[in-house]
Amino acid sequence: MEKVLVKLKDRSYPIYLTREALDDVGSVLRRMDRLEKVVIITDSRVAEMYLESVKRGFHAAGYQVDSIVIPAGEESKSINQVVQIYDRLLDLEVDRKGILAALGGGVVGDITGFVAATYLRGVDYVQIPTTLVAQVDSAIGGKTGVNLSQGKNLVGAFWHPRLVFSDVGVLKTLDQREFIAGLAEVIKYGIIMDSSLFKYLEENADKILSKKEESLYYIVKRCARNKALVVEEDEREESGRRSILNFGHTIGHALEASTNYQGYLHGEAVAIGMVFASKISKNLGFCSNGAVDRIHQLIERYGLPHEQPDLNEDDFDPIIRVDKKMTKGRINFVFVEDIGKVKLEKIDIRDLLIH
Ligand SMILES: NC(=O)c1ccc[n+]([C@@H]2O[C@H](COP(=O)([O-])OP(=O)(O)OC[C@H]3O[C@@H](n4cnc5c(N)ncnc54)[C@H](O)[C@@H]3O)[C@@H](O)[C@H]2O)c1
Repeated sequence: MEKVLVKLKDRSYPIYLTREALDDVGSVLRRMDRLEKVVIITDSRVAEMYLESVKRGFHAAGYQVDSIVIPAGEESKSINQVVQIYDRLLDLEVDRKGILAALGGGVVGDITGFVAATYLRGVDYVQIPTTLVAQVDSAIGGKTGVNLSQGKNLVGAFWHPRLVFSDVGVLKTLDQREFIAGLAEVIKYGIIMDSSLFKYLEENADKILSKKEESLYYIVKRCARNKALVVEEDEREESGRRSILNFGHTIGHALEASTNYQGYLHGEAVAIGMVFASKISKNLGFCSNGAVDRIHQLIERYGLPHEQPDLNEDDFDPIIRVDKKMTKGRINFVFVEDIGKVKLEKIDIRDLLIH
């Protein structure tokens, strides 16, 4: 087992990386605290596969264990579901001596984190991410939240977990399309800050696509460290550094919204967004043809979509609504300068569309 630290003064926490050792989470947590009761929050799909072994691990470490199972899927990331979880926690008489454990993908992680941030004005929680998206991105960084009918992630809080426990063994049961969509976020780290990771992805596509454990372990560890570095520099998205994580996401979000969140998985929309953002970067003279070609080829190699998106100005409305730094139609946009290097600049939405 290895450890990556997210260094945030008194909010610092470790990310543990393991293979095929999910039930160790109980003993790892036990070394850090003296809490008595754990409530595992998971979704119906993950529960079938992994709830028993995680429960066993917590029991063995001396915790009293309860669980709450929510339906699998993005629809569960709602205020209504939050209220149902509060009700269950009150029924289970969970007080501040209890700790929540989010066992699942980004949906379970985001809603559990939000419940932890708000229940009894804040209780502890741990993240046990089981999707690639969650292991490389959503479980790290303390952004929690739920969706409203008006848009995604409109209600939330920054609330860091006590620890993150990522077992790459669980990725083997992940649906291949979900897995590949998660790889878009991995490729993103290569482009924005880690040219060695990018090269590794170029050279090891077969191993990664066939989910060889050592390569999964390598990419998850590398991305966890990258995300930790960005979060350490800009914990609450104030200095702008954290915005580099939005590379490919402006176009990706617009595409998801324009297809009513039905056409693409998030990572697939981000892949299209990354190819498009690189082409715009080249057209504006920020980066070379060579870098753009490598990005395009890598995304294609992993079987991710890369077609030219068909968007109009209105498709950006959901982004504009939440981008508080936007002025007169200009949005913050992440441009590529080279593999491993990006820069943030404002651009007019209409200029985006003519490229
Ligand atoms: N907080 C953040 O910083 C952040 C960052 C990125 C994404 N997100 C959020 O994350 C969510 C998407 O997360 P996701 O892609 O993990 O989706 P998800 O949580 O919906 O999981 C996808 C599907 O995979 C199933 N699953 C999970 N683990 C599995 C496993 N090991 N084997 C088999 N099936 C498994 C789930 O039951 C679900 O059906 C979105 O709501 C997004 O907004 C948050």
